[in-house]
Amino acid sequence: MTGPTGTTGKGGVDTDGDRAIEAYGLTKSYGKPAVRVLDGIDLRVGRGTVFALLGPNGAGKTTTVRILATLTEADSGTARVAGYDVVAERSAVRRSISLTGQFAAVDETQTGEENLRMMARLTGLSRAGARRRAGELLERFDLTAAARRPVRTYSGGMRRRLDLAAGLVGSPEPGVFFLDEPTTGLDPRSRQELWEVVRELAARGATILLTTQYLEEADRLAGRIALLNRGRIAAEGTAADLKSRVGGHRLDLVLTSSEAYLRLAGRAVHHSPETLTLGIPTDGSAAQVRALLDEIDPTGREIERFGLHSATLDDVFLDLTSKATTTPEASAHV
Ligand SMILES: Nc1ncnc2c1ncn2[C@@H]1O[C@H](COP(=O)(O)OP(=O)(O)OP(=O)(O)O)[C@@H](O)[C@H]1O
Ligand SMILES: [Mg+2]
Repeated sequence: MTGPTGTTGKGGVDTDGDRAIEAYGLTKSYGKPAVRVLDGIDLRVGRGTVFALLGPNGAGKTTTVRILATLTEADSGTARVAGYDVVAERSAVRRSISLTGQFAAVDETQTGEENLRMMARLTGLSRAGARRRAGELLERFDLTAAARRPVRTYSGGMRRRLDLAAGLVGSPEPGVFFLDEPTTGLDPRSRQELWEVVRELAARGATILLTTQYLEEADRLAGRIALLNRGRIAAEGTAADLKSRVGGHRLDLVLTSSEAYLRLAGRAVHHSPETLTLGIPTDGSAAQVRALLDEIDPTGREIERFGLHSATLDDVFLDLTSKATTTPEASAHV
C-alpha cells in the first residue's frame, strides 16, 4: 500500500515510510492491585488509510488512543505516530495529529462559531484569520446555519461535527486523525454524514484511526480492522479477512429440541436459544454443508430447518470475543 506522495513534508521518515502509526508491545495497567488494561498491543496503520479499532466496552480502545495521542504513557512498548516517538517526540506528535471523541472539550455555553474562533486565536491566528478559519470549518462541516447558536442546543450529530471541526482548527491538515467512537449515539443519517466526512479526510490523504463498537461502521469505512478484546488484539485484517476466519459463511440450524441445542452450542458462533437456532461457520460449499449436516445430525431428526448466509463482522466479533471469556449463553443475547 503506497501512501499519497507530497502530503507529508515532515515526519514521513521512518524505517517504514508507509506507516502513519506503528505500535509494538504496548501495555498499560491501572489501579492497586494493578489490573492490566492493555496486554501487548501491536498496530501498524498505513499512511492515507482508515483503520478501525473495534471492541466491546472496556476492551482498551480509548486507552490505546490516549497512548498514541500522547495523553497517557504506556507502561512498556513503543509507538510512533507520523514518524515520531510518542514519548520522546511528544510535541511533534501533537502537531501532527487531531484528536476528537469521548474527551472533546468544547464550551457548551458559547456558539459554534465562538468556540472555533477562540480555538483559532489560541493557535496564534489574527482576529481576521481566526474568523476566516472558523467560517471555512463551519461551512465544511455543514454548520453555517447553526453557527450563532449555543452549542448546548446542538443535536448529537451537529455536536460531533463541531468536535471534528475543532480538531482541525490548530493544524489545518494534520496527517493523522484519532476519532474515538465518532458516531456513538448518532441517528443513522448523522452517522452517514460523519462517514462522509471521514471518507473525505481520507481522500485528501489523511490517516484515520477510529474506534467503534459498531461492526457495520468498521466494515463500511475501514480498510483494515483490529478487533480488540480484553486488552489484546484478537484479530486483525480487512473485513473480508476477518469474515473468512469464521468460515466466510454461516449455517444456521433450527433444532428440534433443547437437548440438541445444548449439545451443539459449543461449536456455534451464533446462538438464539428462544428459537433453538445455532449458527455454525462453514465455507459454504455444498460438500461441506452436506458433511456438516450429516455429522451433526446423523439420524436426521435433530435439525428442523437450515439456512446459509455470508458471515458478518458480528459473527467474527461474537466468535472472537466470546472464546475463553464467556459461555455460549452469555453471548446469546448480544
Ligand atoms: N484512568 C483509569 N484508571 C483506572 N482504570 C481505567 C482508567 N482508564 C481506563 N481504565 C479501565 O481500563 C479498561 C479499558 O478502558 P478503555 O476506556 O480503554 O476501554 P474502551 O474500549 O474505550 O471502552 P468503551 O467502549 O466503554 O469506551 C476499563 O476496564 C477501564 O475501567
Ligand atoms: Mg472508550
